[in-house]
Amino acid sequence: MKPEIINLPKILDKRGNLSFFEHPNQLPFEICRTYWIYDVPGGEVRGSHAFKEQHEFIVALSGSFDIVLNDGEKEEKFSLNRSYEGLFIPKMYWRRLENFSTNSLALIVSDSLYNASDYIRNFEEFKKLKNEI
Ligand code: TYD
Repeated sequence: MKPEIINLPKILDKRGNLSFFEHPNQLPFEICRTYWIYDVPGGEVRGSHAFKEQHEFIVALSGSFDIVLNDGEKEEKFSLNRSYEGLFIPKMYWRRLENFSTNSLALIVSDSLYNASDYIRNFEEFKKLKNEI
């Protein structure tokens, strides 16, 4: 599986907008856990890790931020700033979330429970494991 921006439905009427995602229509995995990142001080970076098994999907519900993905060889930057699209990040992609705007809100859904042992926090170890795939 490859990282990809997934466009979400946007239902507009005079009362405002509504967007959603559900499995399997928009999301390629079943949601097991939801968390959100907010009140990030200017200049802070989140993430800086990869997951051995976990897939995630990230939406900028409010504000904007950048997600820099590394596949072990090259980097790709995705700027999220719309609440009707999100980034699917498959397992074994190093991610860095940065450049958070004031009041930005990142919604993240995962296919797994929180599991500290699924994290790879050392980039050299990540590259080594990635090359073994
Ligand atoms: P971490 O994954 O390092 O944050 P980020 O990826 O945004 O940099 O998580 C920060 C702390 O929160 C860490 O101590 C683990 C804890 N945590 C949970 O307990 N449950 C969760 O679902 C998540 C995502 C983190």
